[in-house]
Amino acid sequence: MSTAISPTAYNYKVVRQFAIMTVVWGILGMGLGVFIASQLVWPELNFDLPWTTFGRLRPLHTNLVIFAFGGCALFATSYYVVQRTCQTRLISDGLAAFTFWGWQAVIVGAIITLPMGFTTTKEYAELEWPLAILLAIVWVTYGIVFFGTIVKRKTKHIYVGNWFYGAFIVVTAMLHIVNHASLPVSFFKSYSAYSGATDAMIQWWYGHNAVGFFLTTGFLGMMYYFVPKQAERPIYSYRLSIVHFWALITLYIWAGPHHLHYTALPDWAQSLGMAMSIILLAPSWGGMINGMMTLSGAWHKLRTDPILRFLVVSLAFYGMSTFEGPMMAIKTVNSLSHYTDWTIGHVHAGALGWVAMISIGALYHMIPKLFGRAQMHSVSLINTHFWLATIGTVLYIASMWVNGITQGLMWRAINDDGTLTYSFVEALQASHPGFIVRAIGGAFFASGMLFMAYNVWRTVRASDPAEAEAAAKIAVVGAH
Ligand code: HEM
Ligand code: HEM
Repeated sequence: MSTAISPTAYNYKVVRQFAIMTVVWGILGMGLGVFIASQLVWPELNFDLPWTTFGRLRPLHTNLVIFAFGGCALFATSYYVVQRTCQTRLISDGLAAFTFWGWQAVIVGAIITLPMGFTTTKEYAELEWPLAILLAIVWVTYGIVFFGTIVKRKTKHIYVGNWFYGAFIVVTAMLHIVNHASLPVSFFKSYSAYSGATDAMIQWWYGHNAVGFFLTTGFLGMMYYFVPKQAERPIYSYRLSIVHFWALITLYIWAGPHHLHYTALPDWAQSLGMAMSIILLAPSWGGMINGMMTLSGAWHKLRTDPILRFLVVSLAFYGMSTFEGPMMAIKTVNSLSHYTDWTIGHVHAGALGWVAMISIGALYHMIPKLFGRAQMHSVSLINTHFWLATIGTVLYIASMWVNGITQGLMWRAINDDGTLTYSFVEALQASHPGFIVRAIGGAFFASGMLFMAYNVWRTVRASDPAEAEAAAKIAVVGAH
């Protein structure tokens, strides 16, 4: 579909492209999640081939859901929000298009190289150096487009959602560049510039802040725009949002060592990470409450509006996972939870309940607007999707809690003579029912994405180019 290039119109083309790809990568990444979950139930699904083993497909799953699905959702919404709240077109159509095609190229590179076994072995930073460099170039360009647009804004102040998106862009660049410092020895192999405990600390400084800034701060930017918009209420407290912003970004950066409890990392660093993680509960809940309270006077809308339900339930899961995280960061709790499925449950409470649900809600709000339609093709299909996603998430995390605590207790059980009460295989057998429930929950969640794809396709098909072009016109100041 062609978009008229007019200074009085927003660049919706790139937003549409990223929005559609969010759905596509969501289906692939979550479909792969269901597949690897099934491999844990039926190991035969590894097919005895190196490319299809759990060990190679698991990082492909994480890359697809975090960077392809989550990343495209963040690009789409940030480009949409920054233009509308600044009442101006993106600073450069060419650079924006480069970020789209460059980002897709990184993802395709991941799909090819990870199953082939090319990996740095650092979790969430597996891509080898040529792809890591491309990613860095795309990211810096993203920063130029985003901040350039803020500079040429027509509004006086910078809406708080943009502060969150801005912090997410800057910190992600910093984390990626520092953690990827490495020495290439061939086109497909490099070695980290760091070693030993330093390497581990830098990796988890990266890893935790990938959670904090990629999977949280960026999505909070989304929350601050789409929750008030969909509820048709102003944000509950603008002052709280500013306190929330500064407290969150100041605290998150210190919490990484909670991933390295009881390791060779100095003990003081572990305790510091634990203390900072516990304090982090306060800004996390401050943000969650700010989002929830935005619905004051609009709660009745939840009865009829499934998009608002997606947004509100995502905040509930955000509150839940940011309560659970600080608890798991306490060293004694972590000695039980670490290495178990409890961590996997915590991850997906955040990933499915928070990240995916808020993205889905934002997309349902945004897609009709991008294509000049009053609403999505079918509201009842959004409702079906909502229930599939909610039930799927609950099945996933409940089964992983049961598994995690079972595993933790079985591994530490000791007989009077000091020998282990259970072998590892016995703990694995006890986990089997939980693996089945998790695969079913995942299938619920992923099938909801198929309903979404159909609904999006029907909405896009019903739109004609003139309608879509009219939708991109910049409205009068004050009406974002
Ligand atoms: C249908 C939905 C999904 C299913 C069935 C699923 C399934 C899985 C499975 C089976 C694992 C490996 C667990 C293990 O090693 O024991 C995993 C890991 C992971 N998944 Fe998902 N997943 C889904 C969606 C998502 C989404 C949407 C995200 C992020 C936005 C995500 C992020 C992750 C992460 C970060 C890990 C690694 C966790 C860790 O190392 O502790 N997943 N997933
Ligand atoms: C205040 C907020 C949070 C704190 C303090 C926190 C804390 C923790 C702790 C202690 C672990 C276990 C580390 C281990 O034993 O290895 C963990 C793992 C993890 N958390 Fe959180 N969490 C928080 C919020 C979130 C949210 C909102 C998400 C997702 C959107 C998330 C995603 C993850 C992931 C992906 C891992 C697994 C990392 C890995 O080992 O691969 N966390 N978190």
